Amino acid sequence: MSNQERLIIFDTTLRDGEQSPGASMTRDEKVRIAKALERLRVDVIEAGFPIASPGDFEAVKAVAETIKDCTVCGLARALDKDIDRAGEALKNANSGRIHTFIATSPIHMEKKLRMTPDQVVEQAVHAVKRARQYTDDVEFSPEDAGRSEIDFLCRILEAVIDAGARTLNIPDTVGYAIPHQFGQLIATLRERIPNADKAIFSVHCHNDLGLAVANSLAAVRNGARQVECTINGLGERAGNAALEEIVMTVKVRQDLFTCDTRLDTTQIVPCSRLVSSITGFAVQPNKAIVGANAFAHESGIHQDGVLKHRETYEIMRAEDVGWNENRMVLGKHSGRNAFRVRLQELGVNFDSEDELNAAFSRFKDLADKKHEIFEEDLQALVTDTTLDAANERLKLISMRVCSETGETPQAHVVLLLDGEEMRGEASGGGPVDATFKAIEAMIHSNSTLKLYSVNAITSGTDAQGEVTVRLEKGGRIANGQGADTDIVIASAKAYLNAVNKLLKPQERAHPQKGNV
Ligand code: KIV
Ligand code: ZN
Repeated sequence: MSNQERLIIFDTTLRDGEQSPGASMTRDEKVRIAKALERLRVDVIEAGFPIASPGDFEAVKAVAETIKDCTVCGLARALDKDIDRAGEALKNANSGRIHTFIATSPIHMEKKLRMTPDQVVEQAVHAVKRARQYTDDVEFSPEDAGRSEIDFLCRILEAVIDAGARTLNIPDTVGYAIPHQFGQLIATLRERIPNADKAIFSVHCHNDLGLAVANSLAAVRNGARQVECTINGLGERAGNAALEEIVMTVKVRQDLFTCDTRLDTTQIVPCSRLVSSITGFAVQPNKAIVGANAFAHESGIHQDGVLKHRETYEIMRAEDVGWNENRMVLGKHSGRNAFRVRLQELGVNFDSEDELNAAFSRFKDLADKKHEIFEEDLQALVTDTTLDAANERLKLISMRVCSETGETPQAHVVLLLDGEEMRGEASGGGPVDATFKAIEAMIHSNSTLKLYSVNAITSGTDAQGEVTVRLEKGGRIANGQGADTDIVIASAKAYLNAVNKLLKPQERAHPQKGNV
């Protein structure tokens, strides 16, 4: 495949994906996802927005220092302090990119930036030149390009190419575009900008009208050679274009596309699961490619057709995107080393022997309850918060729940809050309700339960249940996860995980808010 024919996949799960309310990730979680993205072989990983918070700076730095086979990118407004911070975070990257942006639509320039178009061009050029002092790989985005004037877009893009931008990313920031129109926009920009051949055109579409993937593909048909997308379509508001849909459409419809990606598509489902379990954003069953029903044929006519000849009803193979039977990986008699090696293969490394020992002892507890341990169980085991116990203010010590026909369920819960033991009990409509009330009787979090969901991690009645709890407090949202073979215990863990997140200070800046 020549370079011109490569479709560059720029994954922004760790940056735009993280902007979904409640989807914020810790440094270690970002590193785990970045390793999964490296196994997936995406070209560029946008790891975060380094100026946003010290935590995000550390996360981008850690990803840059870990990832060898993808370019690692940091976002920066067109401001010196943002660019310097991004440059610093990326300094040890094997291949680092700075992505700088400024809004170009009349409404954003006038109402948000309060700047004239001339000032915006000047600031964009200055930002690109400054970013070039850190790396040759500089990307520029005219924010809200989908609602910007074409003449102004041509002017600013020509100027930033001259200043050294090598990728021009055209964002449909508010998800307003329609496929034929967005495709035409890319074609027009490529035609009208005199130095367009010196840069790669990229697109970044939001899904407010459900058109992010269609718009991105229309752009690719008109010469865009980079698509910005996220795993499971995670992202601000209705999300970004879903990576799995873009990649598989281009692969399945090679009759229509003159480019292809370098991805190992068998890593798509494992990556989707990891992102879903870390962020707590469940994948809907009918979601294309990665939904549980995406390859399930229910109707007799379809089943019969598939049995006779698979291609009667299937346009791609489930195994090509990573769906396979749950693979048993470890059992009750597996040793510590086998456990460590298997987790390394899944991209999980332990910082200390103590951490490994704690995880191994939890693995042994699980293996006592569950005969076969699958890859998915291991993922849940390390996502499960007790591994991060050192940083959590609230910990579950023990619990007892009584549930009997004709009787009101009762829960007794013992917790540690900042090292101090507390005991609480309550009754409730069901065992989970009683458990949450018992916890609240002790901690008075004043939060509201917005979502409660349980998923079986693997099949079988001895499967672990993975519970997601979403809490809201004063406009802040936190997702918590917990996994256990007992779903009431998993529920308590998930609830405490969400409260622990609410207890942490939040100091992140948001890239699209505030003046540049
Ligand atoms: O949606 C958007 O405009 C963005 C930019 C920062 C590229 O996320
Ligand atoms: Zn965006």
